Amino acid sequence: MTGVIVLFSTLALNLLCLAFAFDPSPLQDFCVLDAKSPGCKKPETVTAADFFFSGMHLPSNTTNPYKAGLKVAAIPGLNGQGLTLARLDFLPDGIIPPHYHPRAAEILTVLEGSMEVGFVTSFPNYKHYPKVLNKGDVFVVPVGLAHYQRGVGKVNTVVLSAVNSQNAGIVEVAGSMFGAKPAINSDYLATAFRLDKKTVEQLQSKPWA
Ligand SMILES: *[C@@H]1O[C@H](CO)[C@@H](O)[C@H](O)[C@H]1NC(C)=O
Repeated sequence: MTGVIVLFSTLALNLLCLAFAFDPSPLQDFCVLDAKSPGCKKPETVTAADFFFSGMHLPSNTTNPYKAGLKVAAIPGLNGQGLTLARLDFLPDGIIPPHYHPRAAEILTVLEGSMEVGFVTSFPNYKHYPKVLNKGDVFVVPVGLAHYQRGVGKVNTVVLSAVNSQNAGIVEVAGSMFGAKPAINSDYLATAFRLDKKTVEQLQSKPWA
């Protein structure tokens, strides 16, 4: 189960590197974060390297129970631009568990392989919009809606994902409830999820990110 933590903490770590000076009304061309002190680098010290990332052609680590990996392009010059770019890798039966991004829509492009993606609209309709994407296909997940991805087909799947936030946030549907710290009352969760209490306690004992 550590895969849960590995997968999502990779993103968190990458984002921490970029955290979080944001000028909502910038009076400047860019604000490249200064790693050494709070605030922006002096423009005369900014170079093209601050807007550059290399390695998106290399797979992310899929050695985890979900058989999926995530790699974020950590680019100091993205600060304040409302964008994040990531590469997702799936082994043939790899998955990313259901989650939503409270602060961003997501656009997914399949570069290799095949992936099913789906999102579900809000109450009371809960309409499910599933789609199998093949090489070259692009799909949008609207902001804030729960969605899932899973590799389908016989080969590894490579996906480029962009979100329109510097810090989109990830809320894993199961993890947010069964992994809450301190724990949510298990009788409550059993009633709410129509599960027996033992199952709830088993879920609560697992590591969630
Ligand atoms: C991939 O992740 C696993 C599990 O965290 C780890 O043991 C392994 O060393 C990683 N592989 C690479 C190449 O980083």
